[in-house]
Amino acid sequence: MTTTRIKSVAIIGAGTMGPGMAAVFATHSYDTRLMDISETVMEKAKATVEVVYNVLLSEGFLTEEQIAKGRQNLRFTMSQAEAVDGVDLVIEAIPEKLDLKHRFYKEVETQVGKDTILASNTSGLPITELAKVCRYPGRVIGMHWSNPPHIIPVIEIIQGDETSDEAREILWEVTEDIEMVPVHVKRDIAGFIENRVLYAVMRECLHLLDEGIATAEDIDTVVKWGIGYKLAVIGPMELLDMAGLDIYHSVASYLNADLSNEAGVSARVQEKVKSGELGLKTGKGLFGYTPESIPPLMQKRMKRLLGTKKILADWLQ
Ligand SMILES: NC(=O)c1ccc[n+]([C@@H]2O[C@H](COP(=O)([O-])OP(=O)(O)OC[C@H]3O[C@@H](n4cnc5c(N)ncnc54)[C@H](O)[C@@H]3O)[C@@H](O)[C@H]2O)c1
Repeated sequence: MTTTRIKSVAIIGAGTMGPGMAAVFATHSYDTRLMDISETVMEKAKATVEVVYNVLLSEGFLTEEQIAKGRQNLRFTMSQAEAVDGVDLVIEAIPEKLDLKHRFYKEVETQVGKDTILASNTSGLPITELAKVCRYPGRVIGMHWSNPPHIIPVIEIIQGDETSDEAREILWEVTEDIEMVPVHVKRDIAGFIENRVLYAVMRECLHLLDEGIATAEDIDTVVKWGIGYKLAVIGPMELLDMAGLDIYHSVASYLNADLSNEAGVSARVQEKVKSGELGLKTGKGLFGYTPESIPPLMQKRMKRLLGTKKILADWLQ
């Protein structure tokens, strides 16, 4: 049993995000239910949860005992009523479509008690907008995990206009209890913090590529070895102080005006999407992949992320 006010969690949607989130809760002693409407997705999710356990075990983030506990605590179901029956917390991870989510919130409110917290993993839909269809909007809150959810520690907790402070405090407590790092997004702004910063970086990278300033590989190398590596230890706010605000002032006064302010989507991305070049999932995007090259590539990335996390773990304590 957990020491927080939340004992049971239902995760709704078992696609990309749901299985990793469910594995985290189950291995931290929460009575966890994972639900999806698709049988195929459900079967895949069961296998994904096992992959998550194995990766975390092999890298020393979980013990055999924790995994056994996880298996015991996690139930898979295709019935929403069964998944949310008597739960303290519902985390919605269904597709990013407002009408779908509205339908879900309307229905789930008829199936849970009025104190059950309803959290959304939305990447950027306003929480206030999601809560509009609810009778008790005070318990609707954003809980934005980063992909892969069993590896990336930060979770943005977003209060909508009506979200109660109590719901935020409870979610904060739970996030710390599952050994993740909560951040409070004080205003319900599109993209929250993570995606606003990430999309600013990606817009500029695509602009540099379109302008022929460097290859996609070289742009990634600069970001990975110059910026990303440093930012994992020294955040941009800390970096401003480290570099000196006078230096930032001088550089920003000529550079900011030269940066991309493209309001639409890059023409390159638009064309690629139109021709079905979507990246890893279709074997071609900004780079090319073969079906054989993808599993080892993903494995290497997960190993590197967990290796870095191990080194930075003191910061998590
Ligand atoms: N993929 C990411 O990198 C990522 C990261 C952070 C947040 N998110 C957000 O998390 C949410 C889920 O994203 P995802 O990438 O896991 O989506 P996904 O499309 O991979 O999975 C969504 C799942 O929800 C199921 N579903 C649809 N309607 C349902 C319903 N009424 N009840 C139960 N299941 C239902 C679908 O069958 C599907 O399996 C979205 O809001 C997304 O913006 C995604």
